Amino acid sequence: MNLSGLDKSRLPRHVAIIMDGNGRWARLRGKSRIEGHRRGRASVRAVVELSRRLGIPYLSLYAFSTENWLRPKDEVHALMNLLERYLEVEQPKMMRHGIRLLAIGDKERLPPPVLRTLEHAMRATRKNMGMTVVLALSYSGRDDIVQMVQSIARKVRDGVCAVEDIDEEMISAQMETGSIPDPDLLIRTSGEMRISNFYLWQIPYTELYITPTLWPDFREKEYLQALSAYQRRHRRFGRTDEQLNPAPPTVKGSR
Ligand code: FPP
Repeated sequence: MNLSGLDKSRLPRHVAIIMDGNGRWARLRGKSRIEGHRRGRASVRAVVELSRRLGIPYLSLYAFSTENWLRPKDEVHALMNLLERYLEVEQPKMMRHGIRLLAIGDKERLPPPVLRTLEHAMRATRKNMGMTVVLALSYSGRDDIVQMVQSIARKVRDGVCAVEDIDEEMISAQMETGSIPDPDLLIRTSGEMRISNFYLWQIPYTELYITPTLWPDFREKEYLQALSAYQRRHRRFGRTDEQLNPAPPTVKGSR
């Protein structure tokens, strides 16, 4: 599959990815889990670059969940180092290609040097308009919902809005993803059939694409396959085919 196999006018506006399988990739090759994450970082580069080339405006990457803090200390440490280094090395490239970096999640839990590098990268890229990369770091879909409920409850308590004013739009705006559209496509690598506390509120009609490919092997070719599968999907958003494609009116006088 090459780029020309895709319909450029029907690309997803927002792709979200659960990057899974670094550990299995490493185990299969007798390498350390950390080596798996290192290879996974090259896949991150590949999907960011291709998304930018295709003109996909938003890409969300689930890089570290709140549950991932429970992993062995040396693995967490290595992941944080990889992340910090990635942010340093990629920042000039993000500037060249007009990529804005956003991070969502409980950033305060990140080690101070990582947080500083992250904040620096977000500040430096904040005016870039070509594409937004959302890194979910120490993120939990349920935590996101909890903080949204707390924030709306405070508004009601302070008289900023009434209970009756609460609607889907307000809820979406109060989520950490408030400024970005819901994902059109959610990709999960390594074959597991679950959401793992990633986006929960944001995916009511998101198309799911689950591939057995392990994240370090998910590169341009596999990403193009996922996008091509997305373009073959028929999105109805709960409506019927007839509503979306009404039959052409019968010509007067014909039977
Ligand atoms: C899941 O594989 C992957 C992660 C927990 C971390 C993702 C991190 C990267 C891709 C590398 C660095 C990221 C950036 C943004 C530079 P796993 O370890 O759960 O694999 P397993 O299920 O096979 O054990």
